[in-house]
Amino acid sequence: MAQPRENQFSEQALREFEELTTHYPTRQAALLPTLWLAQREFGWVGEPAQAYVADLLGLPYSHVRAVVTFYPMFHQKPVGKYLLDVCTNLSCRLRGADQIVDCIRRRLGIGIDETTPDGKFTLAVAECLASCGTAPMLQLNQDRFYENLTEESTLKLIDELSQRDA
Ligand code: FES
Repeated sequence: MAQPRENQFSEQALREFEELTTHYPTRQAALLPTLWLAQREFGWVGEPAQAYVADLLGLPYSHVRAVVTFYPMFHQKPVGKYLLDVCTNLSCRLRGADQIVDCIRRRLGIGIDETTPDGKFTLAVAECLASCGTAPMLQLNQDRFYENLTEESTLKLIDELSQRDA
């Protein structure tokens, strides 16, 4: 999938960008929220998007690239509409995270860091997402937790997400 919109923010995103820069003392300090905005706009932050953000903020491309490659929350390649980050750190693993990953793999027919051919689902694994008390858990699209997972509840979630687009 190519980066959409020729890596230019929409007018609304440009307005948001200009507004958010007013909250930071320097353009460099606005890098993380600008990358977050870019990911929302483009779906991922590949090299063209990184160069665009570098130009917007007047920063060296190498600096933007270093930040993008440091933080796993930034996607350097396209992901599906539904990104499933299953925590496989200690608490979750002790409470069955591997079985959760396996049941997703079997249901979707993809491996870790793969996307279904229809572009709907990407399966990933994550380090601790700070919800150890409700392990095992997964995060959907980086902003919603599903906790105390069982194979049954995980497959139900996948079915519900699949049906949203049916
Ligand atoms: S170990 Fe999974 S949320 Fe902490």
